[in-house]
Amino acid sequence: MLRQHQGCFPGITVTLFCLCVARTWAHEDICKSRDYGHGSTVCVCNSSHCDILPPIHLPQSGKALIVTSSKAGLRWKVSTSRFSQHGNEILPSDVEIEVNSKMRYQRIIGFGGAFTDASGLNILSLPEPMQEMILKAYYSANGLEYTLGRVPVGGTDFSIREYTYDDLKDGKTDMKLSHFSLAKEDLQYKIPLIQRAIRTSSTPVKFFASAWGAPGWMKDSGKISGKGKLLHKMYSTWADYHVRFIKSYEKNNITFWGLTTQNEPSDGLEESFSFNSIGWTPEDQAEWIGKHLGPVLHKNNLGHLKVMIVDDNRIFLPKWADDIMSNNEAAPYVSGVAVHWYTDWFIPPLTLDLTHEHHPELFLLYTEACTGQWPWQLLKVVLGSWVRAEEYAADIIESLEHWVSGWTDWNLALDLKGGPNWIKNFVDSPIIVNAPGREFYKQPMYYALAHFTKFLPEGSQRVALRRVYSGEATPSLSSTAFVRPDNVTVLMFLNKGHDVARVKLVDSRVGQMVLSVDPHTIITLAWKT
Ligand SMILES: *[C@@H]1O[C@H](CO)[C@@H](O)[C@H](O)[C@H]1NC(C)=O
Ligand SMILES: *[C@@H]1O[C@H](CO)[C@@H](O)[C@H](O)[C@H]1NC(C)=O
Ligand SMILES: *[C@@H]1O[C@H](CO)[C@@H](O)[C@H](O)[C@H]1NC(C)=O
Repeated sequence: MLRQHQGCFPGITVTLFCLCVARTWAHEDICKSRDYGHGSTVCVCNSSHCDILPPIHLPQSGKALIVTSSKAGLRWKVSTSRFSQHGNEILPSDVEIEVNSKMRYQRIIGFGGAFTDASGLNILSLPEPMQEMILKAYYSANGLEYTLGRVPVGGTDFSIREYTYDDLKDGKTDMKLSHFSLAKEDLQYKIPLIQRAIRTSSTPVKFFASAWGAPGWMKDSGKISGKGKLLHKMYSTWADYHVRFIKSYEKNNITFWGLTTQNEPSDGLEESFSFNSIGWTPEDQAEWIGKHLGPVLHKNNLGHLKVMIVDDNRIFLPKWADDIMSNNEAAPYVSGVAVHWYTDWFIPPLTLDLTHEHHPELFLLYTEACTGQWPWQLLKVVLGSWVRAEEYAADIIESLEHWVSGWTDWNLALDLKGGPNWIKNFVDSPIIVNAPGREFYKQPMYYALAHFTKFLPEGSQRVALRRVYSGEATPSLSSTAFVRPDNVTVLMFLNKGHDVARVKLVDSRVGQMVLSVDPHTIITLAWKT
């Protein structure tokens, strides 16, 4: 019965107040979908066509903008619906969700992706107009409107060789860093693409640096990769190395907003670890921050950089943050806690809550996520996987509901195998490049990201939702809501279930509406009050 208006558009049925024509789309702007048989579809871009996501335009007060993407094939479907003042006539629902804009939580910093060597290689493997399409797809007002960019300091596994900025013959050391120089990967891929992303973006982009491996001569193992710690006598050289990197990028007009103190410091403590890394205990890292990194940043007029600790999975929280912040020399230099998503499926978000409770002065920022990373996932790139879009949306909603201020995806673009990666640690990406075919594919993950990135500018503040379940079964619906700096309220829904979720949405400032969220659907609503 509630599906009576399905004819309007299939992703969401707004009972009673269906208003379907919000915006007419230029034919050339729309998604050209292709089904690779993995559950849903990709949008295909080539040298003459790519769908765009125009900036959102809000309807007048009393109506909500509704954007829908779904497994069934909707990609950023735009419509509007009116709030009703008379709640009593409204049909039954499974859940009533009421926005309480007075209860306020954390503010958004931003969303973004990583300028890995692999991303650069893939983007630059395409003809110039298509390179521009990808940069715009992420950083322009007609794309995801990303405002964060993670920049690896030297090589990562997503490089085609193992390198640092000061690689020497065995037995040699260079504590003054007189052989330090950026790599061809910086000069050819990362710097040009970052400069182009800056030009593409209509708002300033916050870049943050993360180091993976150190030169072998700085480590007890003598190697860039694998298990090994930084030699104690190299602590100050390693801090200087970071400053040299940041200054070298500044010379190319790329200024940094922050840095993480090490990508996944637990990796280099593992016996069988295979790629660029440094192993740190929290105690060692606190000493390095307090006695070396912090002071040397200040000495070089880089004291404004946001220093983010941990940069590892939430399984290490809150202990890692507690241990580092208990060091009185390190603590004053620390601004935030960087978190990776890989253990989120079995470690509860309580670890985020505790980290916030123990250190309310620190922001929490997700700094890495990708799908297809587990060894048992034999297919690394799954073209058209809606499951992976849901994993992204579910994780973003969950983390935002637990004090997180933003979310950073991993590689901006990978090839059809999920690389290149010098140790074959292939994974998936929201944009997959098919250079020989002169096409690239926007995965469902790309649209899942858009539901957050395009609606949540910096400074948006999370507000409370009161959820009252009335049906027999609790719908598998997750949600989060924010009030933006322009006072627009936004609310995201993800229905991962197999059933329609009937939602009664209440905002005492504007009224209420009932909407049906179809199975396997992501919806963002935005309204003025
Ligand atoms: C690009 O895609 C559009 C839309 O699907 C199609 O009409 C056009 O022929 C394609 N161009 C090339 C060069 O493949
Ligand atoms: C940096 O920006 C300045 C001013 O816009 C410009 O003159 C200069 O050429 C740029 N330098 C580089 C290396 O891009
Ligand atoms: C948003 O609302 C608050 C309080 O209702 C008001 O003080 C502020 O000026 C508004 N800001 C904008 C940008 O409209």
